[in-house]
Amino acid sequence: DAVERGEYRHYMQKEIFEQPRAVADTLESRIGPHGVLPNIFGVGGDELLAKVRGVHIIACGTSYHAGLVAKYWIEEYARLPVAVEVASEYRYREAVVPADTLFVAISQSGETADTLAAMRESRRRGYLGTLAICNVPESSVVREADLKLMTRAGPEIGVASTKAFTTQLAALALLTLRLAHERGLDETRYLALCEQLQSLPRMIEQALQLEPEIQALAEHFIPRHHALFLGRGVQFPVALEGSLKLKEISYIHAEAYPAGELKHGPLALVDEDMPVVAVAPNGPLLDKLKSNLQEVRARGGELIVFADKAAPMDGNPSRGSVLRVDAGGEFIAPAVFTVPLQLLSYHVAVLRGTDVDQPRNLAKSVTVE
Ligand code: G6P
Repeated sequence: DAVERGEYRHYMQKEIFEQPRAVADTLESRIGPHGVLPNIFGVGGDELLAKVRGVHIIACGTSYHAGLVAKYWIEEYARLPVAVEVASEYRYREAVVPADTLFVAISQSGETADTLAAMRESRRRGYLGTLAICNVPESSVVREADLKLMTRAGPEIGVASTKAFTTQLAALALLTLRLAHERGLDETRYLALCEQLQSLPRMIEQALQLEPEIQALAEHFIPRHHALFLGRGVQFPVALEGSLKLKEISYIHAEAYPAGELKHGPLALVDEDMPVVAVAPNGPLLDKLKSNLQEVRARGGELIVFADKAAPMDGNPSRGSVLRVDAGGEFIAPAVFTVPLQLLSYHVAVLRGTDVDQPRNLAKSVTVE
């Protein structure tokens, strides 16, 4: 056990630091200087994807959050409608399936009972085809799908998913680019996005350098009972994933909100005991997010802001801190910003003395309903 963990104290920490390698492996021989390589989704994949007119994504837990990021991506770059749903809901309702819709199941293990059942149910619902994005080649989800794109995260031991998530994002970015190209995205823009995606391992490597600063920040969370995570746009799912990580391993109650919803409820909870973690990438929504943060500040809330290096932000808030992250571009930003949030949860959990790799009541793979 100690041998496998090497220099790391927990599997989770090791897996967080394996992300540059895992993401690079997932992109390896699938994307090059001229774009996404042919037939990376399996035999007949490109022909099938050329017919797609809409996408339904089904998953659970962290994999569901990856699906939510993909919705923003595919709608923006490929201009195809996307619906994302947790598998346990999807399987028991009568979803409407428009013609030529692709069914995508995302699962680290490929054995999650609800995801597998949703995929079986999808057969009855008349999809164009099914695609599995999965980390285990011999799993049930992969065996039963028409098309597959394997994440190459390697074994993930920590119950809280880390490298599985960022490799899912890498795989979903490849899907986005393939669909976008097919749907006539401007070639220059397409190639620029491809280049950005290929820089992801390097940008994650840089984000990992923030560990000492994040470790210091984690101390603020030791006595807390609640935390709020805010994001906007494609960073909202990143906030959801950040709050899930904190809940899972530190047992601090955390909720994520799209920052624009702050006024519609959660602001009532903000006081000096409620840390607010915000993801602030550079982009058209930055000013709006800043005014949301002003509302938190005015109520004495402690603000922890992960801000893009390029984003013009004021200095440190009176209570809290601003940490600078080099996102490396708007497309890959959600994957890069995920990393400091993983490190934050990890260090909070270590300081609170919980069982980081095996949190109470949770299982790595939920194979029962
Ligand atoms: C469990 C795990 C999570 C995981 C979820 C979905 O809840 O603890 O980390 O995200 O299952 O698992 P899957 O293998 O389908 O991605």
